[in-house]
Amino acid sequence: MGILSEKPLLILGGGLMGLAIAHELAQKGKRVEILSRSRNEAAGFVAAGMLAPHAEGLKGELLSLGQTSLQRHPRWIESIETNSKMPCGLKTCGILVPFENLKDCESYPTYKFGEKLTRIELLQEVPGLSDNWKFGLLFRQDGQIDNRRLLMRALEKACVELGVHFQEGVEVIEIMKDSNKFNGVKIKDINGNINHLKSEEAVLCCGAWSKQIFKTLPIFPVKGQMLSIQGPKQILKRIIFGPGIYLVPRDDGLIIVGATSEREAGFQKGLTPKGQRELQKGIKSLIPELNQLPHMERWWGFRPCTPDEGPLLGMSSINGLWLATGHHRNGVLLAAITAELIGKSICSSYLSKEESNFLTQFRWDRF
Ligand code: GLY
Repeated sequence: MGILSEKPLLILGGGLMGLAIAHELAQKGKRVEILSRSRNEAAGFVAAGMLAPHAEGLKGELLSLGQTSLQRHPRWIESIETNSKMPCGLKTCGILVPFENLKDCESYPTYKFGEKLTRIELLQEVPGLSDNWKFGLLFRQDGQIDNRRLLMRALEKACVELGVHFQEGVEVIEIMKDSNKFNGVKIKDINGNINHLKSEEAVLCCGAWSKQIFKTLPIFPVKGQMLSIQGPKQILKRIIFGPGIYLVPRDDGLIIVGATSEREAGFQKGLTPKGQRELQKGIKSLIPELNQLPHMERWWGFRPCTPDEGPLLGMSSINGLWLATGHHRNGVLLAAITAELIGKSICSSYLSKEESNFLTQFRWDRF
């Protein structure tokens, strides 16, 4: 076992959270190294990129966290676009949630933040919407980012431009500590070589795999299967968010269709006929005509979920090891506030009362 002596801050996980935090810290002048096992598996490449605290019907502190993050997205994206010189596809396109009856509509957790639509108004927004849907809530403030094609690449480029160092194909197999003070990680590279990488600070952002590295974290995978279909440009002007199914239209007519939510699947890889049928049935329940469009891609991934479906943010039980994981369905939305909170916390920058409160509410030991 070799000992590598350099001591940058380590980011454990090269997905969206890892990149977002590395970018934030590098902007603050920190020396950062990202350790990533397999970037293709990152949930940031799987998600549809919705910015949807209202359409998702979030509640309580998670809604406040989501709303705060939504407000911070334009500035966050601007910094990534400036540093990378690449676009991210941020669009406040609005999200429409259809309902079968008035009771469901008026009892939706975020009802008061939306604009209520009748069937006629719904049809003006979404021609071809199936007869099932009689009412709707339009959340104009919600939107999307083109995470798969643009954001992930732009963030990576921005990190490279800011001098962030990457190690890809590296598995963290053990967290090292000395009297409860973080002092590095044991890593295995693609050739099976094991090294102790020394450092005094790290952020664990391994998504669904976090528990494999830090056994006491209450995180489990929730598998999601997705597909995309290609329509003509402007076929849908807004995201449609139905029960168990959503359609996210990109500018070029590509529509991302998501997503199954499979809690029993564990880390079982691959598409299943049942999951894919569920998506097709979902499309039919919203806009049947869309099932005529050509399919482009199908994929799957694992959301990192916690018992209350909120993230784990802030210092862990090990001094010097921060957590930014467990974002479940809301990773793209929460990336902006996560990067800011963790960045400020690590650099001991001023935190507003609201920001300190988020770090308290989303502590790892709140359960
Ligand atoms: N953000 C929606 C999902 O995880 O399916």
